[in-house]
Amino acid sequence: MLHGAPIVLSFVQARPALVARRHKRSKVLLSLDLGLSMEEVVEVDDGGLILPGSVRLSWACIEEIAAAESSCFAVEADGSIRKIQTFSALTQRHYSLYPTTGAPTMLVSGLPMHRIKGTDPQRDTLSKIKAASLTRGRVLDTCTGLGYTAIEAAKAAGEVVTIELDPAAQEIARHNPWSRRLFEAPNVRQIIGDSAEVVAQFEAASFARVIHDPPTFALAGDLYSCDFYREMWRVLQPGGRAFHYIGDLESKSGGRVARGVMERLKQAGFARVIARNEAFGVIALKE
Ligand SMILES: C[S@@+](CC[C@H](N)C(=O)[O-])C[C@H]1O[C@@H](n2cnc3c(N)ncnc32)[C@H](O)[C@@H]1O
Repeated sequence: MLHGAPIVLSFVQARPALVARRHKRSKVLLSLDLGLSMEEVVEVDDGGLILPGSVRLSWACIEEIAAAESSCFAVEADGSIRKIQTFSALTQRHYSLYPTTGAPTMLVSGLPMHRIKGTDPQRDTLSKIKAASLTRGRVLDTCTGLGYTAIEAAKAAGEVVTIELDPAAQEIARHNPWSRRLFEAPNVRQIIGDSAEVVAQFEAASFARVIHDPPTFALAGDLYSCDFYREMWRVLQPGGRAFHYIGDLESKSGGRVARGVMERLKQAGFARVIARNEAFGVIALKE
């Protein structure tokens, strides 16, 4: 873990600490940033854990974290803990950081923004990136979320422009150790705004790739409209490609949404639209 980086824990880290107490161990190996970096040796005593910076985390707090399977907690310098969650006055939605054994996801009104069943947000992100088949050119990431697609895209692309509607979502990302590079990578430009409006302001043919990873149709219908797809087509360079995440194409609802999406992408001008079941989405190619 980076020196001075915020400490963020979930039940995944708190439970081994409780085991160490039961076995009366004086030390325990723990990751202090939700498993992003290596585990560190942490001292255990009767009062709790002694974390870097002499932060004392009480057993009461550790028990509270261990019992909360749906929450991640920031540990403050005074040893108090705070759930990483917020309510947005803008969208009237509740946002929270939801732990997994790997990278956390974000819940928006209770819905996870990454796949977590049978996979994890990191693998989910890599399959989106693979389907997008990135080049060194500019990438438009229409929905920032926790920034995982933007961070991965920035490793291959020249520049990534990423758009997030809700400052509350950006706030959750700020507290997520796995999102740190979203704020640090020099080739990631973040914009707060509605993609449906922001994308219309970009120059034609100014991106080599688009990664479109919207919330579900019910939460963001505009981002599934033919008008929006026309804008995606307009900002793509000839030969460019868009990856559109949808959900499980083999499920009844995913299949239904995918059929409509593919039809509208073609109406919007895309020459070829191809289902990518393994990435839970479709790719759309501009001739
Ligand atoms: C599925 S998540 C994106 C996950 C992201 N690709 C990642 O790697 O973490 C969808 C995000 O889109 C945001 N969003 C919803 N409507 C939007 C809009 N109209 N314009 C831009 N972002 C939007 C939501 O707040 C949410 O953070």
